[in-house]
Amino acid sequence: MNRLLVLAPLLLLLAALQNCKPEKSSCNQCSGSDSLYTATPLTLTQPFKFPAIKIPDDNPLTEEGVQLGRMLFYDPILSADSSISCASCHKQEFAFADGGKQFSQNVFGLTKRNTPPIFNVLWMKDFFWDGRAHTLPLQVEDALVGEQDFSEASIVSKLEKRDDYTALFNKAFGKPCGISQTKIEKALSQFMMTLISTDSKFDKVMRGQATFTASEQNGFYNLFMKDTGAAFGFGADCFHCHANSSSTSNLTLIDNNFHNNALQPSTTFTDFADKGKGAITNNQFDNGLFRTPHVRNIEVTGPYMHNGQFATLEEVIEFYNSGLKNSPTVDPQIKAVHQGGLQYLTAQDKADLVAFMKTLTDTAFLNNPKFSNPFK
Ligand code: HEC
Ligand code: HEC
Repeated sequence: MNRLLVLAPLLLLLAALQNCKPEKSSCNQCSGSDSLYTATPLTLTQPFKFPAIKIPDDNPLTEEGVQLGRMLFYDPILSADSSISCASCHKQEFAFADGGKQFSQNVFGLTKRNTPPIFNVLWMKDFFWDGRAHTLPLQVEDALVGEQDFSEASIVSKLEKRDDYTALFNKAFGKPCGISQTKIEKALSQFMMTLISTDSKFDKVMRGQATFTASEQNGFYNLFMKDTGAAFGFGADCFHCHANSSSTSNLTLIDNNFHNNALQPSTTFTDFADKGKGAITNNQFDNGLFRTPHVRNIEVTGPYMHNGQFATLEEVIEFYNSGLKNSPTVDPQIKAVHQGGLQYLTAQDKADLVAFMKTLTDTAFLNNPKFSNPFK
């Protein structure tokens, strides 16, 4: 038998012991039989009229895991040249979008798409504008590699050189101790799962703790939540995509689905500037489709759309009223596409839709100290 093969486990063990010299306090916590660290379980509060919270079985939330994730989120150590962190593009005051920027600066240059906000990820099925990641850890991996030029070996070893991080990983995840890419992804996912935004004026109105102004009321009930056309009192039909149903029984305000909202013109199935979901599935019927984005906190997450082409909410409303562009995959719910938009929204209607959307700003979330930079 190859001697190396026999030796390999021994060498690995030696290497591990080397790494865990007894004088390193961080290692003691993870050696010996009775020292398995049990992290403190963390339970999230179920928000009003949201589907039941479901935490993945293989990544239960703990105080230590979330705190570690928060540190990793804000620490530029995670990028190849230690220049940027997740928070360089995902900023709390903009609901973790990149306020005001059409595209963001990554390790390679500029991102190809507008940076989306991060919150209420527990209720999302797919991540990214095109849905290319189906779980949060996979999304994290994509972000690490795509934006921060992450290479597992180099970043794990950078972190291992820091006693504080070794100790924090051991506290959060116990045995087998040490730092790994999987644990980095799990910790970041744990932190992001705690980013819950359900305390806007809109939520308070739904809970009976506040009231809409007449303008907000009209914007929500008569425009956002009503279908188009005379039979429905000329609603603006936003709910088919930006809500789960025509009722207020589910307040996530995302349908977890993909649509072409008539943003990009195309005469054929293929010549979209950005194919969106189609580039992932290679199905031409998916070309031009994007995941419905959040409208919660929309006041602070601009510019808007996957390409950040609209600077203001007024421009977005005008787009749905008069700026629609036809293409073969336009969603059937964008019924007015043949006439370039609804066309009938009055100045008051437009103002009312914007007024309603501004009730979705959750200032408690934007200022929650639990989500802020832990190094400051
Ligand atoms: C250089 C800017 C930048 C950095 C750094 C960055 N992101 Fe992002 N993030 C983006 C962009 C742009 C997208 C959208 C990409 C797309 O959809 O194609 C995105 C998407 C996401 C999403 C998906 C949100 C959704 O609604 O689907 C999450 C979650 C996320 N990033 C988390 C992270 C984490 C965690 C890190 C750090 C490991 C990170 N990002 C680093 C720019 C960045
Ligand atoms: C057929 C589904 C559909 C309907 C109906 C619809 N939208 Fe959208 N909306 C989308 C999709 C998909 C996007 C993202 C498109 C893109 O980036 O290419 C979007 C983007 C947006 C954005 C920008 C979000 C961001 O973070 O960039 C806002 C705001 C918005 N829609 C508001 C509305 C309003 C108001 C209405 C009603 C007048 C409406 N939408 C009707 C599917 C829809």
